[in-house]
Amino acid sequence: MTQISITKPDDWHLHFRDGEMLNETVPATARCFKRAIVMPNLVPPVTTKAQALSYRNRILQASDVDSFTPLMTLYLTNETTPSMIKEAVSEEIPAAKLYPAGATTNSDAAVSGIEALYPVFESMSDAGMLLLIHGEVTDSHVDIFDREKLFIEQHLAPIHDRFPDLKIVFEHITTADAADFVLSCDQHVAATITPQHLLLNRNDLLVGGIRPHNYCLPVLKRNVHQRRLQEVVSSGSSKFFLGTDSAPHTKHTKESACGCAGCYSAWSAIELYAQIFDDLGALDKLEGFASHHGPDFYGLSRNSGHITLTKTSWRVPEKITLKNGDDIVPFYAGQELNWKLST
Ligand code: DOR
Ligand code: ZN
Repeated sequence: MTQISITKPDDWHLHFRDGEMLNETVPATARCFKRAIVMPNLVPPVTTKAQALSYRNRILQASDVDSFTPLMTLYLTNETTPSMIKEAVSEEIPAAKLYPAGATTNSDAAVSGIEALYPVFESMSDAGMLLLIHGEVTDSHVDIFDREKLFIEQHLAPIHDRFPDLKIVFEHITTADAADFVLSCDQHVAATITPQHLLLNRNDLLVGGIRPHNYCLPVLKRNVHQRRLQEVVSSGSSKFFLGTDSAPHTKHTKESACGCAGCYSAWSAIELYAQIFDDLGALDKLEGFASHHGPDFYGLSRNSGHITLTKTSWRVPEKITLKNGDDIVPFYAGQELNWKLST
């Protein structure tokens, strides 16, 4: 097959950042995605309805495409109350994000006793607001490669048992344990999967030298976990959908003695997914993953337009230079891809 056309896709997990950076990140996503679930881990985080709506306006101003729709999320903290949820839940703010404190970039303000948030989860369940979870424990004694698996046992399974009607998205899953947990749950639990976790494993981070541009959180895992993620997306299961976790950091903050976590994949995301599904012999499952399963789970309508991808080779740029002179190294920089979005 040399060309495919799919329903216009959505990105169910990404980081736009704020300020000048929006002029870079928003057009990159709006070039092919109709909607995107926007992560709230700004500094300070987006914790209230007013902050989310004002952030939404800044994103809309930076979009060069009229039809792009940002879907906002609230950042849950120990100060979040059920009334803040009731006030915020809407078409514009369909979800809230749970970051365990210290789990990732700008998560210092996040939740330090997850059970303390149970009244908030109850109000989310009642209001039909989705709970998006960064599923890793953060205890310093737990090995970084085991943090997702332990989160399932210690927190995710108990939350799902206690709030069976709450829709939960287990974000950017990285392990066979997470994929199998999601498959074992009823229709209230689903997961997003990034391009990097399908394409790479921890050898791509550590063999032959540390590769800071492949460093993200949750960290890349063993190849058996990568293989299981590939299997579940190839199966066409509606419990898994596209969430790039595109997360820009400047070149100097990634290429550093203490480099930031995050892969900026927006300029190549849909093409990377097409290549992955093609290599897996599952190109017929791309549309479900990219364009159907997400809106179906969120209870939103599927998009009406289409995008076309053509089999043609191109090279991801080595760097992107922002107006202020900072460089960003995009995910897969300098490497060749064999699918391209047709304009
Ligand atoms: O790699 C990551 N980067 N994982 C996250 O969970 C957050 C993100 C970021 O904001 O940089
Ligand atoms: Zn993220």
